[in-house]
Amino acid sequence: MEKNKKVVANMKMNMTIHDIGDYLKKINPNVKSKDVVICPTSIYIPYFLKQSYEVGIQNTYLYDEGAYTGEVSPKQAASMGVKYTIIGHSERRKYFLEDDLVINKKILEALKYDMKVILCIGETKEEKSLLRTERVLNKQITRALSDINDISNIIIAYEPIWAIGTSVIPTKEEIFKNVEYIKKVIFEKYQRDDIMVLYGGSVNEKNISDLCDIENISGFLVGGASNDADKFLKIIKEVVG
Ligand code: PGA
Repeated sequence: MEKNKKVVANMKMNMTIHDIGDYLKKINPNVKSKDVVICPTSIYIPYFLKQSYEVGIQNTYLYDEGAYTGEVSPKQAASMGVKYTIIGHSERRKYFLEDDLVINKKILEALKYDMKVILCIGETKEEKSLLRTERVLNKQITRALSDINDISNIIIAYEPIWAIGTSVIPTKEEIFKNVEYIKKVIFEKYQRDDIMVLYGGSVNEKNISDLCDIENISGFLVGGASNDADKFLKIIKEVVG
């Protein structure tokens, strides 16, 4: 696997403030790396700031301020010291009907405030079975990054939708092949071979050591297993050291 590997926790809509207290008691003294990015439910973000790891947000809006009830803008998140935003997660695409156009606008807005964008892409089970994975990945990348010339702050997370929260993960060869393809698309468009590509989907403390063998990935986006401090610490230890 590549150097400076990252581990990103996508905690989703989990935990109460009581659980967060217990979680931080284990995480704060043990996580001393800026290559670890924790993205809690946004209401809890202030409890995670000013530690030795980085903090991210699970979603940011496409405008900087105004009458958009319930949304958080990248301008606001950045003003708090939040460095990363996850955009285009399959759950946002599915449950909040975010399409590539909205995703592109959200990325453009986040980049204005120097946030690092973790752009999630990945195929459904059906698309995979119809051998459309590459076509889907290409379309998602091209549309999400439309009108974006500088991709220095873009990190791609390859998350096959059928592997998210299912305990089913692709073979290492499949992940390697699809990550190579993503890198090829980026290289053809931007002549850059230094963009980080993470893998996400059912990563846990048991499979992490095996997944670390995949040479072309730069780290992991961890959902379910990141909500359990002990499991997450094991994953961090394996990836970041
Ligand atoms: P999972 O989620 O690790 O629970 O599969 C990953 C994600 O949704 O980013």
